[in-house]
Amino acid sequence: MQIKATEQALLDWTGDLLAVGITEGETKLTGDLATLDEKLAGTIADLIAEDEFEGKSGTTVVGRVGGKNTVRKIALIGLGKAEDLTINSWRNAAAEIARLAKKEKTLGISLPLGSASAPDVAQAMTEAIILALHEDNRFKSEPESKKPKLETVELIGLAGQDEAISRGSTIADGVILARELVNAPANEVTPVTMAQTAQQLATDYGLEIKILEAADCAQFEQGMGAYLGVGQASEIPPKFIHLIYKPQGTAKRKVAIVGKSLTFDSGGLNLKPSGSGIETMKMDMGGGAATLGAAKAIAQLKPDTEVHFICAATENMISGKAMHPGDILKAANGKTIEVNNTDAEGRLTLADALIYAETLEVDAIVDLATLTGACIVALGNDIAGLWSTDDALTAEMKAAAESAGEKFWQLPMEEKYFEGLKSQIADMKNTGPRAGGSITAALFLKQFIKDTPWMHLDVAGPVWAESSGGINNKGATGFPVRTLVNWVSN
Ligand code: BES
Ligand code: MN
Ligand code: ZN
Repeated sequence: MQIKATEQALLDWTGDLLAVGITEGETKLTGDLATLDEKLAGTIADLIAEDEFEGKSGTTVVGRVGGKNTVRKIALIGLGKAEDLTINSWRNAAAEIARLAKKEKTLGISLPLGSASAPDVAQAMTEAIILALHEDNRFKSEPESKKPKLETVELIGLAGQDEAISRGSTIADGVILARELVNAPANEVTPVTMAQTAQQLATDYGLEIKILEAADCAQFEQGMGAYLGVGQASEIPPKFIHLIYKPQGTAKRKVAIVGKSLTFDSGGLNLKPSGSGIETMKMDMGGGAATLGAAKAIAQLKPDTEVHFICAATENMISGKAMHPGDILKAANGKTIEVNNTDAEGRLTLADALIYAETLEVDAIVDLATLTGACIVALGNDIAGLWSTDDALTAEMKAAAESAGEKFWQLPMEEKYFEGLKSQIADMKNTGPRAGGSITAALFLKQFIKDTPWMHLDVAGPVWAESSGGINNKGATGFPVRTLVNWVSN
């Protein structure tokens, strides 16, 4: 499928499906639309009248154009009220249209620009079209749904926006890598294959890469006992992945992105009971998947920020070698942790990964993790939790998320709650009380950061979608690759 900006005017477009965006209440045809309607023998006006189409956000009508017209079908898509338009309106409209056009070969889309910037709209539409049509059929011997037939999508009224389209397509590719990593089960994506994927990115896009083996991790500072403790019952070796993107010339800024990378989380000896969703725990590397997806896009977009991508990959399994509930682990900074629950494993792996990230002397560290069920209870499936020690970093990330159309909500770093992690015997426990579970998880992570501006994103809900809608289809979403790419690029 090719997406391009066409020089052709709305009136001259020829092809299978022509989709036109209409803002709410603007169903009285004027200007080009009126002329087009005349040319199509009143089809548009008929569609509006017959379907009582009002232009409400998300509503669509499709009709066959009679006679030997140069357009076979026409679709109208509602954008909602003109004053409520955000970049998401164009994104969702484009996703909706792409789904409608699955069986057509050629699609032309004309959405009113309003006050939005043409490059932003072209990029958002491109991302949406590619991502709404992406289905992961790798594990079906025969795909259930027919492959989209779409060959060309032409963006009308966006002539000259080729760079924005190419940017959108590169970002969508990064999102798709993240989706594929998360969708693949734990017998396909393991710490070893994650390291191979990272190696491939390094080869393809000229990134530097370091893979620390278990022995290297044991040697790092005081030893990554927390990370290694989590992986010690797995038959598959842990792989500590560190990819580096360096801009040409001197970097404006240096940042680290750290993604939780549990390729499977059984809970360990605090085994996840049936009914707890243990069979979905292949998604527990969603943070790491988004980290690699962002690396793929960033390596091609070449911003002037140096970026370190870190995935401490391992599995949380059970065997005679498994850590016991109650074991005391020592992280690389010397801090000791009483593991009162082996299912709070993500924070143990992240503790060592954050210590490692801080030795890189970066200007900011952002971790992203499918860390707690408690965060899903608090914010639902569509919104990620955000904690930070730095207001400027918070403002940057919120702006990046806003333009990506990915939702985050800031939660408090309530120091008092750290009391819930006090241990009799070690420096801290890894698990606090049920109440405020995603906050104590954030406070736990904070113990492993000294003074670098830091942000923690709990993405347990949004990495997976239960149904399709907007740019997502049921399954892995690739959240929050687009926010990360925006953040690094701005
Ligand atoms: N990977 C889970 C969190 C999770 C739950 C992600 C549901 C996606 C969907 C994490 O390792 C975990 O098990 N957390 C426990 C923490 C508890 C033991 C303090 C939880 O949320 O129940
Ligand atoms: Mn767990
Ligand atoms: Zn987990």
